[in-house]
Amino acid sequence: MAPQNKEAVEEETGLERIAKLPGIGPATVSKLKDAGYTTLQAIAVVTPEELHADTGIPLVTAQKIISAAREALHITFKTAYELKKERMTVKKITTSSKNLDSLLGGGVETRIVTEFFGEYGSGKTQICHQLSVNVQLPEEQGGLLGKAVYVDSEGTFRWERIEAMAKGVGLDPDEVMKNIYWIRAMNSNHQMEIVSKLFDFVPKENVKLVVVDSVTSHFRAEYAGRENLAVRQQKLNRHLHQLIRLAEVYDVAVVITNQVMARPDVFYGDPTQAVGGHVLYHAPGVRVQLKRSRGNKRIARIVDAPHLPEGETVFSITEWGIRDPD
Ligand code: GTP
Ligand code: MG
Repeated sequence: MAPQNKEAVEEETGLERIAKLPGIGPATVSKLKDAGYTTLQAIAVVTPEELHADTGIPLVTAQKIISAAREALHITFKTAYELKKERMTVKKITTSSKNLDSLLGGGVETRIVTEFFGEYGSGKTQICHQLSVNVQLPEEQGGLLGKAVYVDSEGTFRWERIEAMAKGVGLDPDEVMKNIYWIRAMNSNHQMEIVSKLFDFVPKENVKLVVVDSVTSHFRAEYAGRENLAVRQQKLNRHLHQLIRLAEVYDVAVVITNQVMARPDVFYGDPTQAVGGHVLYHAPGVRVQLKRSRGNKRIARIVDAPHLPEGETVFSITEWGIRDPD
């Protein structure tokens, strides 16, 4: 890249403010960019430890960079009243099932992470497909007139399903498919890199929903065995915090899935004890446990959402997508 181009790019993203800090050279700026920190927003929301781990930049420098990014973005106190107003403007995406929507307090919310977890075939991927379609609906029909990003770690995304679901809600299938950005995550590092890049991509493309289906599979495969559990948890936590920030910073809905084994005793006992189910326990957001029922029926249950009452409901998976049972 020619030097003047490079400057132009830095000016666009705001990274030139970082480049001007005393003691910051072009090598540091390159390290930031290589690790996916291409905007001030992305930098402002990490901890110095994370920035250090992601880029290799010394901790003290990382601290300096983060402070500068926060200053540049005028990140400061909010009043409780402002928080209340923000809370009232949280937007919701319909699931196309009234039952499921009510369980979720109106639909899947922006600004937080919603996790669907459950056994294979419980409907996690189908719900992700449905939301990727429904986010494109006008607000009066339960959408946000926005686009979707689908991070697919298992290779189970099907455009055919999108087509059917788009028809099912009366949208033009081709238009709907054009507004869903699909990417296959090849491994856990790639998955995290993709999310870093989303801090740049999401605001540019009017994305209102980010799906990661599934959030855990690569981490499980790569860090199998008890002896790797601690490292896996640590890395997964970093990934989840990336996602939480993405939701908060850009007012988008982030939906993640997590396969856990079916254990009826656990389903009606303490769900946080489910195999792998404790993974996201400490992350804020909404957790929905899914379970297979008779035929195409599925049971959904809210687990420890601070602002939602506990409860469960039934929905079905039909040819046209998620619906209330007949
Ligand atoms: P894993 O990813 O394996 O953990 O499962 P999951 O929870 O993601 O399950 P998924 O959402 O893929 O649900 C699969 C179920 O959806 C199937 O058992 C079918 O009942 C239903 N399903 C999938 N595709 C279709 C379809 O084209 N038509 C209909 N009617 N149902 C479908
Ligand atoms: Mg799936």
